[in-house]
Amino acid sequence: MTQERLARTMDLPPAISQPNIFPLSWRTESAQASRLEDIWKAARREYWDPEALPWPALDVSRYSAEQREAIAYWFTLLSVFDASAPPVFANALTRTYEVHEEDAVRRAFFSIERDEQNHEQFCGLAISRLTPGGPLDYEPQTDLGKRAQRNAKWLYHNGGRYWTGYNKALPRYSLAVVFSSFLMGETAAATLFHHMASHCEEPVFKEGFRNIGRDEGRHMAVCLTLMERDYPKISAEDRALVTKQIRAGYVFLSGVLFEPPEDFWDLPDDFIATQREIEEVARGAGFGVATYEQKRENWHQAMLNVKGVLDRYDIPFPAIPEVGISGEEITDIDYENIIPIF
Ligand SMILES: [Fe+2]
Ligand SMILES: [Fe+2]
Repeated sequence: MTQERLARTMDLPPAISQPNIFPLSWRTESAQASRLEDIWKAARREYWDPEALPWPALDVSRYSAEQREAIAYWFTLLSVFDASAPPVFANALTRTYEVHEEDAVRRAFFSIERDEQNHEQFCGLAISRLTPGGPLDYEPQTDLGKRAQRNAKWLYHNGGRYWTGYNKALPRYSLAVVFSSFLMGETAAATLFHHMASHCEEPVFKEGFRNIGRDEGRHMAVCLTLMERDYPKISAEDRALVTKQIRAGYVFLSGVLFEPPEDFWDLPDDFIATQREIEEVARGAGFGVATYEQKRENWHQAMLNVKGVLDRYDIPFPAIPEVGISGEEITDIDYENIIPIF
């Protein structure tokens, strides 16, 4: 096939059809861009290396096999959210280039991408020390460990469903709708890691969670800044979508922040009982997973924070009776179309 040589027929090339993957421009337009620059600078300053954490001080033989399997299970549960974050965010980052976002926005998204890769790596470093080969290729040593692995496989199954849904949903929504879902995820993450950092006794976990919590705080700030830029002019149609996505985000993220509701989660009947048992063992080992009551309270508080943001822009908040929040009743969610991120 011979390639058409436009350059022989025209003085200047034709206009590039849009959306084109990348802009050839570095625009600063909004009043919020300078705050995004500050966040970008903070992200570089606060960058950390998961491998440089005090891993040598982690003596896994201090823990029983059951305790190791229980703690590794929790990291696996976390990984279902955090290991999907790099590819999920990579797609969102690509989107910011496609829509020719401002320069500072592209870099803010890039910093989130880089952080999420660290969070995922941290999970892997913990799991490989506690249960080598885990979660899938590790041979469980206890009965609880066996049941934990079965739970892990079901979690992974559900994480895969989410990925498929996300990829279908992302191109259909405006970035404004996407930001609200991200805010939900980042708020959930910041809440979770704040709790883990203050309740875990093992120094390497404590420090890792503290670093991750700080990263998630920056991610929240990126979402809030972009909402401040875009929400005063958000369309009525997008408003309704935001309310729905918040409810979907609650259901999806409850898998790690609280307990997985049946709305989305396809899990065996004994899943929650097993998970409660595992978390009890982990807590006994000084690994500070929240109790049912603490989770409910943390999640309630996190939802109130997100509600406070939506109220600012007069966007109705969905009812979340599970954690005692009243609001707009949302029933028609298509769980094949959810876009929260962690
Ligand atoms: Fe994260
Ligand atoms: Fe995040």
